[in-house]
Amino acid sequence: MQTVREVGALRAAVAALRGDGGGIALVPTMGALHAGHLALIAEASRHAGHVVASIFVNPTQFGPNEDFEAYPRREAEDAATLKAAGCALLWAPSLEAMYPSGFATTVSVAGVSEELDGAARPGHFEGVATVVAKLLNQVRPDVAVFGEKDWQQLALIRRMARDLDLGVEIVGLPTVREADGLALSSRNAYLDAEQRHRRRRFPRR
Ligand code: PAJ
Repeated sequence: MQTVREVGALRAAVAALRGDGGGIALVPTMGALHAGHLALIAEASRHAGHVVASIFVNPTQFGPNEDFEAYPRREAEDAATLKAAGCALLWAPSLEAMYPSGFATTVSVAGVSEELDGAARPGHFEGVATVVAKLLNQVRPDVAVFGEKDWQQLALIRRMARDLDLGVEIVGLPTVREADGLALSSRNAYLDAEQRHRRRRFPRR
């Protein structure tokens, strides 16, 4: 499995995979991979001959008081996990490759962005829509797979793909949970035993 960090190298690597036939599926992530992400990879491989995963901790979807700096980053471990899961390519763009200086475009999806999480986290869904639009344009996969855990995010991505004629099939996958019902989440790495215990009282969150 190759890791690429610049758009030019990505395009060349994707073109080589395309030459092999079988189609391409993309699984976008922010890393710190767990069994939920791996279920997306497994689903992606049911839809296409080659699976491309992306890891990019996207600063524009974190609010000023959120955990961008502290978000777990474990790229070497994640790359080994993706390789073992049969991924063909890891797209791990640098910040500069994703947002070159002078970057000025935002994708905003009305309606879905404004309710629930969108109301509580201003700018969050614009950040998600913009980075996912970029990831889909960079890789140009046939299929992209997302978790139902982030239900509003999935609805927004489906809407955006339709509205912008992105020509990609968006596949949603049910949430992978721990035996006690807690949804697997990269952020649960922060929880201590007491906090985990408290979160179990809200197993659907
Ligand atoms: P991240 O939180 O890393 O999640 C990547 C993908 O994994 C998302 O589609 C998310 O819904 C899915 N996922 C996370 N936990 C899951 C679980 N327990 N079961 C099933 N799927 C799960 O979501 C993002 O990153 C970002 O917003 C991103 C789309 C990559 C844009 O930056």
